Amino acid sequence: MKKIGILTGGGDAPGLNAVIRAAVKTAINVYDCQVFGIKNGYDGFLDQDGIIPLGMADVRGILPRGGTILGAANRGNPYARKIIRDGKEVTIDVSDEIVKGIKRLELDALLVLGGDGTLRSAHELAQKGVPAIGVPKTIDNDIGGTEITFGFDTALNIATEALDRLHTTAESHHRAMVLELMGRDAGFITLQAGISGGADVILIPEIPFKFENIIAKIRERADKGSKFSIIAVSEGAKPEGGTQVFSRIGDEIYVPRLGGIGQAVAEYIEKQGFESRVTVLGHLQRGGTPTSFDRSLATRYGAAAVRLAARGGFDRMVALQSGKITDIPLEEAIAIPKRVQLDDDAVITARNIGVSFGDEE
Ligand code: F6P
Repeated sequence: MKKIGILTGGGDAPGLNAVIRAAVKTAINVYDCQVFGIKNGYDGFLDQDGIIPLGMADVRGILPRGGTILGAANRGNPYARKIIRDGKEVTIDVSDEIVKGIKRLELDALLVLGGDGTLRSAHELAQKGVPAIGVPKTIDNDIGGTEITFGFDTALNIATEALDRLHTTAESHHRAMVLELMGRDAGFITLQAGISGGADVILIPEIPFKFENIIAKIRERADKGSKFSIIAVSEGAKPEGGTQVFSRIGDEIYVPRLGGIGQAVAEYIEKQGFESRVTVLGHLQRGGTPTSFDRSLATRYGAAAVRLAARGGFDRMVALQSGKITDIPLEEAIAIPKRVQLDDDAVITARNIGVSFGDEE
């Protein structure tokens, strides 16, 4: 193995730089290998100046830094790239150009740090002969075959702190405070932060809720003397028989943008006579320095990805199973997105301690 490339695709997540740093150090220290950074996801293969050499000096000091030194592109799907042709916006397949770019660089491996979309593209490029290796990144923690993705722990900590802060103001003003959290169609952030932050109601995509049941919980608490309530709602949560709320519809480039369910919940609560406010935590969950857990996990993933490359383990993804780093076929990782299971210990525990998921009275 003489040359490897690294790219960071999709939305950013805390820990990307820690993976890059570990991969560069391992590649140079252990394999005496050259490393290239591909800028802005797969786009770097198409853009002038899109590829930069990465040496030890380039990764110095980046371990605690959020974001990605390589830039990310969450509209960088090689099979659907938007360009302007004859003054019109058209979508084209540039996967063959990317394959050519990889061959031109004579890469022996391409480490792809990404979520479901980026990893799917990596798997498809692997079918065209690209020596792709995936590293599971996303705050949503929704990648199959791995217990945890890097970025998730940091998002959880930020969400938990937000819930703690909402508690004090909720209590002072006797209000129902609603916190809308990210996660797309997976409720992991909301479930786990909701438990850690002592939410009274947790609404997640996997458990459709009834608005009346939220009010029942708020009323029950008020009757017992707690005149405030905390509601953690996942951006992908939806009422029974209803639909998810989007702030923008999708197209062939962009996935639809979830957002607005927190507002809908807060408005309903107010109509029922309880003062309510909504906070949308948004990209604060993705920005800033990674937690110690994410730094360590990201470092382990980065080094393991390079070791996997040296073994020729292409079209595979590094993963965490039973606390140990392993690797699985990329196909398996993207086959079934991970979701909160209703018999998960965390769901049962939350119910045991009196949390309402809005599905039962
Ligand atoms: O997948 C990560 C994530 O942060 C989701 O939780 C969220 O729905 C989405 O990305 C937001 O994407 P964007 O940064 O494009 O607004």
